[in-house]
Amino acid sequence: AVIRREEYQPPEWLVPEIALDFALDLDSTKVTATLVVRQNPEGSGGQTLRLNGDGLAARTVTVDGQAANDWRMDGQDLLIELTGQNHTVEIETVINPAGNSQLMGLYASNGMLCTQCEAEGFRRITFFPDRPDVLSTYSVRMAGDKARFPVLLSNGNCTAQGENADGTHWAEWHDPWPKPCYLFALVAGELIANHDSFTTAGGRKVDLNIWVRPGDEDRTQHAMDSLIASMKWDEEAFGREYDLDLFNVVAVSDFNMGAMENKGLNVFNTRYVLADPQTATDADYDAVEGVIGHEYFHNWSGNRITCRDWFQLSLKEGFTVLRDQMFSADMGSAAVKRIEDVRVLRSAQFPEDSGPLAHPIRPDSYQEISNFYTSTVYNKGAEVIRMMRSMAGVEAFRKGTDLYFARHDGEAATCEDFVVAIEDGAGLDLRQFRQWYSQAGTPQVKVRLDHEGDVATLHLSQVVPATPGQPVKQPMPIPLRLALFDRDTGQHRGEELIVLDAEQASFAFSGFTRIPVLSINRGFTAPVAITSDVPTADLVFLAANDDDPFARYEAMQSLIVQHLVAAVGGGILCDAERQAGRDAIGRALAAVIDDSALDDLMRGELMILPSEAYLSEQLKVADPGAIHAEREGLKAWLGRELKDRLTALHDRVSALPYGRGADARGARKLKTQALVYLAAGAPEEAASRAAAQYAAADNMTDRQGALMVLCGLDTPARDDALADFRQRYDGNALVIDKWFSLQAGSLHPKVLEHVRALADSPDFTLTNPNRVRALYMSCAVNPKAFHALNQEGENGEGYRTIADLILALDPINAQTAARFVAPLGRWRRIEPKRSALMRAELERVAKAPKLSRDTLEQVTKSLG
Ligand code: ARG
Ligand code: ZN
Repeated sequence: AVIRREEYQPPEWLVPEIALDFALDLDSTKVTATLVVRQNPEGSGGQTLRLNGDGLAARTVTVDGQAANDWRMDGQDLLIELTGQNHTVEIETVINPAGNSQLMGLYASNGMLCTQCEAEGFRRITFFPDRPDVLSTYSVRMAGDKARFPVLLSNGNCTAQGENADGTHWAEWHDPWPKPCYLFALVAGELIANHDSFTTAGGRKVDLNIWVRPGDEDRTQHAMDSLIASMKWDEEAFGREYDLDLFNVVAVSDFNMGAMENKGLNVFNTRYVLADPQTATDADYDAVEGVIGHEYFHNWSGNRITCRDWFQLSLKEGFTVLRDQMFSADMGSAAVKRIEDVRVLRSAQFPEDSGPLAHPIRPDSYQEISNFYTSTVYNKGAEVIRMMRSMAGVEAFRKGTDLYFARHDGEAATCEDFVVAIEDGAGLDLRQFRQWYSQAGTPQVKVRLDHEGDVATLHLSQVVPATPGQPVKQPMPIPLRLALFDRDTGQHRGEELIVLDAEQASFAFSGFTRIPVLSINRGFTAPVAITSDVPTADLVFLAANDDDPFARYEAMQSLIVQHLVAAVGGGILCDAERQAGRDAIGRALAAVIDDSALDDLMRGELMILPSEAYLSEQLKVADPGAIHAEREGLKAWLGRELKDRLTALHDRVSALPYGRGADARGARKLKTQALVYLAAGAPEEAASRAAAQYAAADNMTDRQGALMVLCGLDTPARDDALADFRQRYDGNALVIDKWFSLQAGSLHPKVLEHVRALADSPDFTLTNPNRVRALYMSCAVNPKAFHALNQEGENGEGYRTIADLILALDPINAQTAARFVAPLGRWRRIEPKRSALMRAELERVAKAPKLSRDTLEQVTKSLG
């Protein structure tokens, strides 16, 4: 069934209060729910109370204390016919957490019990109007075996606890803040806390706990530091204070997504909590900080103000991603953070926008809402709000968000409410801007600069491509920050923000005796794709001189993208042209390595080659083999050409001791960067350096970087390092995930064979999403593996591997299985032979009996 945004109806019944009583047990938990229900004055007066269920059977149903006989099932839902306006409904269900492999609702993970209710998991716990516009005050009581479940947690504050004579104990929790059921959480198990506290600006002392399994407590300090920093930052940046006396975070090893913002009780995937230098890379540290911030910031953007319906998901996710991006930018290097965020957008969201699953940040319809927790809703959603901030200016934007929080506190709001608040508070006219909420597709902006007399004229035009269900598009307002560099001085005269709001527009700039060098979309002000025929020399100039770090990175990327696209797209006709392109890139890269004014973290960004996914995006139809060969060819040429520089760089940065500061982190980033180029151009040199780096490593960043490089090489050092790594970290699931991921993501010619062997290894299991992603997502996003580039011809072995995985995983964990459809869904943009093989695998999946709604929706849309 298709759910449509336009068909929203307010609920007929509200549930101002709910009491939940859990008799906890791993495979049979009894749930008694007592709902105070009240007819909604905004409803249409219907007397049927619809309580959603998913796989539940009611043991007893009472209304106002009397056994009810006026109830029936409608599919999975329980319907009760009521008269009058106020009732108390009590329902008893029994569920099996240990049998819950979908990891939605109440489930068991490593002997502990935990919940995930967003989006529609609460209906797997008890019958309830499972929609975000029904807000209730929760009282929770739980009882269970004290030895098995020594710690009992839920939302809000613990109001009472005690022990029984039979070895069980109990706890009662009360959350004073009304919330939708997707924010309910319960955790019971053997856990140990890193405890600290934070005093808010208003003087409220908040107890903070990061709960983990015993043995993991030494890896929680970074999460705690990040939490305290988040709480402080939100007070300063957005004026948001925490509103309870307690804030709990629990780390769980079996988790479908990253983490969950349940009120006062955030539940996290262990990978976004646990970190120490021995087991976590610098990137892992950043991810912990970002996700801790993200979930904490949801307390206001998500919890105090929630969503009216799931079509509004970007209201909380887009805004909260923007907030976590701003937080991380303030904690570290803002320039590097911006570049990383754009890289994620381009490699994950742009392909979504140009593929069969394209949808606006506020979708119009869905079959399974879990499929809409996408890079579009999250990352493009953040970009859309960031554009408002760029247009309003920092201070006016803050007035807008202040107004939004004040106006809608306690409500279930819409994206439209947010836009209106920004209009009113920041003084913007966003009438046309609303197109960003309703139109899918990445706008393509064509740029041309011409020059006559002393006037430089910028000609811009935009096309928003057709996407499924949206054949015709309106022009969007596209804010572009730009600067024009004087060729004589090498300087610009200040930045300007222009807004392209029509299909075409021209902007004139006077006072230029020569045509200036254009730097446009500085800071990536708009999530668009820009095409221009900038001369290579201008890109080289910007790559060396642009004072906007993002623009400098962009110039470097464009230089490489232009060359590689020409090389694979046929624009390069002879070897001399290829060589000229490589020479220009080689000189630019050498300048980056030599530039003593650059910090190493930024140098690392400038040295990264554009991904194959991003290169494919530039072509209507891509030949993954040609792209891979040309990109690897360039990398190998650079590795040979710059070998001395790269080895000197590797020597320099290898001399720095471990530290968490920017310099030491920059050094670690470059260590592996240098090896990556050397591995392509001078594999023997790289193998010995990587083996030495592996052996000398006193931290995971160096160790993983070295192992990654070794994994792609056909050398005995590879097997030695892999065996050492496996044994050294035995029992540490998150590090063993890396061991899987590095092998499945490698450039090794036998990578697909390795994937198959790993799938059969005793460490592999389909029941743990982290392990599944470590092996199969790494494979699906690795062109070498996915497109089986080592094979003679095209035999589709990579596609078959992913399709087999989808079929095997779907009955176990549909949400995670459905995430693997998108890579196959790219078939329309791939050369004909591979395209047919990809499509055939999708058809094979589509034909399977009993596919989940999650996978069926994605497969059907992908076949189109
Ligand atoms: N709201 C969470 C977050 O972004 C993610 C929700 C997980 N959703 C799911 N369907 N498992 O922070
Ligand atoms: Zn979120």
